[in-house]
Amino acid sequence: MENWTRRKFFLSTLAGSLAASSRRMFGASVPVGEAAFPQVGTQASFKAARPLIVCAANGFQHLNDGMEILKSGGDTLDAVLAVVTKVEDDPNDDSVGYGGLPNEDGVVELDASVMHGPTRRAGAVGSIQKIKNPSLVAKTVMEKTNHVFIVGSGAEKFAVDEGFTTMDLLTDRSRIAWLAWKASSSENWRPGLDSPEWKEKLAQLLDTPEKMAWREHIEDVVMHPQTGTINCLAVDAKGDISGTTTTSGLSWKIAGRVGDSPIIGAGLCVDNDIGAAGSTGRGEENIKISGGHTIVEMMRKGMSPTDACLEALHRVARNYKPFPERLKQFHIQFYALNKNGEYGAGSLWGMHPGGRRVQFAVHDGAKARLVPCTPLFDKEGGDY
Ligand code: GLY
Repeated sequence: MENWTRRKFFLSTLAGSLAASSRRMFGASVPVGEAAFPQVGTQASFKAARPLIVCAANGFQHLNDGMEILKSGGDTLDAVLAVVTKVEDDPNDDSVGYGGLPNEDGVVELDASVMHGPTRRAGAVGSIQKIKNPSLVAKTVMEKTNHVFIVGSGAEKFAVDEGFTTMDLLTDRSRIAWLAWKASSSENWRPGLDSPEWKEKLAQLLDTPEKMAWREHIEDVVMHPQTGTINCLAVDAKGDISGTTTTSGLSWKIAGRVGDSPIIGAGLCVDNDIGAAGSTGRGEENIKISGGHTIVEMMRKGMSPTDACLEALHRVARNYKPFPERLKQFHIQFYALNKNGEYGAGSLWGMHPGGRRVQFAVHDGAKARLVPCTPLFDKEGGDY
């Protein structure tokens, strides 16, 4: 079979499985559209607690670090940064910081934002390269400049001038995943995943037993481009609130693509009078509905954090009313807490591909827990 024909076969197989998944999702008897959506206004949020930290599930094991800061009277922004910088430093989290999956050119580009409720300030960086803690650069933008958002080479220069050290953010695993993605998707880097030679190609890339252990993961990220990210929100005993969101963004993105994470009002929104909200998942969908701002404004009108997250998800889903089956192609989650310490999270889909439940992490002062997000559709989704 000619190369281009194999490529078409690969894509048409993928398209076929997408169509089949969307049929499974909506089924024959479930009407597509508003009627299929859960009703907003009925979902209770969790019991109030202060101090409290809420974050995406990938921050779970670091919540104690943030809670210790809050319990000792520390600042809410320091608490959320204590959680997310550990994830940025972790080479095995390939959606954030060091080890994040790169853009289509093999370059890791990071986005991050912070908001400090008590002083009503914000800072953000977008498409920054070579700096493993963009959340700390965002905090420095907030503290040392009268700007809010610095991007690209300007953000890197700013960080270096402020004493941040540069490094190669591509790990061996993320570099091999990128090479495997190129092999699967480019006319010039064949054979692809669909080809008889695919096994050989992957064997060439995974040439030690240690690398062979990455095989399942690499095939997964090649087939399902990641929009992992971590959002973390905290309210202290006095009711002061801060938040941060940090990410390596959509894997294999076009160089310079910026998602929702550094956009104040989308990937993060904090109002010290009301509460805070943030997001993980496909940033393009969040940007279109200003999700963080929407959720805070819904809470201002009296909605619970969970209902406010579901309202944002309704708006995401509404944008696909003419072709709802396309919702199946992505995941998006929203997280929120209010000034009283009530909290909640909503996800477009109840489960990740393969059936694992979509969860978020919370520390209510007693202990850290993983809790299911309230889904808009309690089905398996994100079948990209
Ligand atoms: N939510 C992260 C991104 O889309 O970049």
